[in-house]
Amino acid sequence: MFSKRVVKTVKLIIGIGLIILIVGFLVIQFVPVDTSNPAVVSEPKWDSPQTQALAEQACYDCHSNETKWPWYSHIAPVSWVIAREVHRGRRSLNYSEQSAYGENESIETILQGRMPPRQYVLFHPKARLTNADKQALIAGLKKTFGSNVGSGRESGEGREGQGGEDSEGEGN
Ligand code: HEC
Repeated sequence: MFSKRVVKTVKLIIGIGLIILIVGFLVIQFVPVDTSNPAVVSEPKWDSPQTQALAEQACYDCHSNETKWPWYSHIAPVSWVIAREVHRGRRSLNYSEQSAYGENESIETILQGRMPPRQYVLFHPKARLTNADKQALIAGLKKTFGSNVGSGRESGEGREGQGGEDSEGEGN
């Protein structure tokens, strides 16, 4: 068995460790994190309210300027991870900024089951798309963004040059 002294030392170390953790946790709360929602510049002219609802429920938190930030997204270090995901997501595809619709790849990512990301769906069961939802969303994206959707991309970007017929974009 351990001597009393060893037990005491171990307790002391655990105590100091806990204090460091707690202080560290408090300190990192002051690191600025950008959880802002920039202005909505444009909105797709959705072919139907259903497509819009599906996109909103499964994609908008990371691919629009209308992110719903849950309470835990304001607590570091979780906030860092979530904000990073949202900013990366918005850069790839942003339904609030027409220059970043990037719809060509959306269908691919839905079919492959890559979007919405699995970890996200765990915390947002509403974002889980049934097979019927996926079919409806894909069909809706095709109708909304035109028949060139899903026909592959010319450049790695895939977000330029669409939108001929909906270039006004501000409607709705
Ligand atoms: C939890 C946040 C999140 C949600 C929700 C989400 N995405 Fe993403 N998405 C990302 C991130 C982050 C990236 C960037 C991935 C990368 O660069 O590796 C991305 C990338 C993309 C891309 C760019 C192409 C690619 O292959 O990476 C497309 C298209 C896309 N998402 C479509 C969608 C669609 C459609 C939905 C809804 C059905 C959706 N995403 C839901 C976070 C999300």
